[in-house]
Amino acid sequence: MTPKLFDSAADDLQALATLHRSAFADPWSAPALADLLAGPGTFAIHLQDGFILARVAGDEAEVLTLAVSPAARGQGRGRLLLRAAARHAQSLGALHMFLEVGIDNPSALALYSGQGFVRAGQRKGYYNGRDALILKRQLPLEHRDLA
Ligand SMILES: CC(C)(COP(=O)(O)OP(=O)(O)OC[C@H]1O[C@@H](n2cnc3c(N)ncnc32)[C@H](O)[C@@H]1OP(=O)(O)O)[C@@H](O)C(=O)NCCC(=O)NCCS
Repeated sequence: MTPKLFDSAADDLQALATLHRSAFADPWSAPALADLLAGPGTFAIHLQDGFILARVAGDEAEVLTLAVSPAARGQGRGRLLLRAAARHAQSLGALHMFLEVGIDNPSALALYSGQGFVRAGQRKGYYNGRDALILKRQLPLEHRDLA
């Protein structure tokens, strides 16, 4: 179970769209994912049963989406993908990572707080009327400490 950087030229975008549909009520299509991936600083990291999409701008990274297929949940894939994305974002120069999560999404909230994310704000009605929390985490700085 090794997360890999998604290669738009070689990897299957439709597989990401299928995973997204398995995880969200309002899924993103393959063309929508392709548009996002074409944007500057945007990357995806994937496993057979899940993926994470994130973007780096300057010294900030943002998680755009994270999806693990229902049958594969609770086995560490979400944590693995999040950590791999944080490492890749750091390699692109990010010092902090942000994300939005519904206040009614306990599994995602538990995953993020377990990985050191803390509350940075709240957006009212962000997800079809449901509030979202903005979470933030400083990225590991080990390799910078060596410099
Ligand atoms: C949120 C999601 C990505 C988690 O993926 P996952 O592979 O099941 O998560 P993991 O197995 O890596 O779990 C990591 C940690 O998250 C927490 N967690 C995950 N699922 C949980 C659940 N159902 N209840 C409580 N805590 C949970 C636990 O703290 C767990 O740590 P532990 O194994 O040490 O107890 C997955 O449930 C999913 O795709 N949900 C639908 C889409 C979604 O909500 N994405 C996030 C949008 S912000």
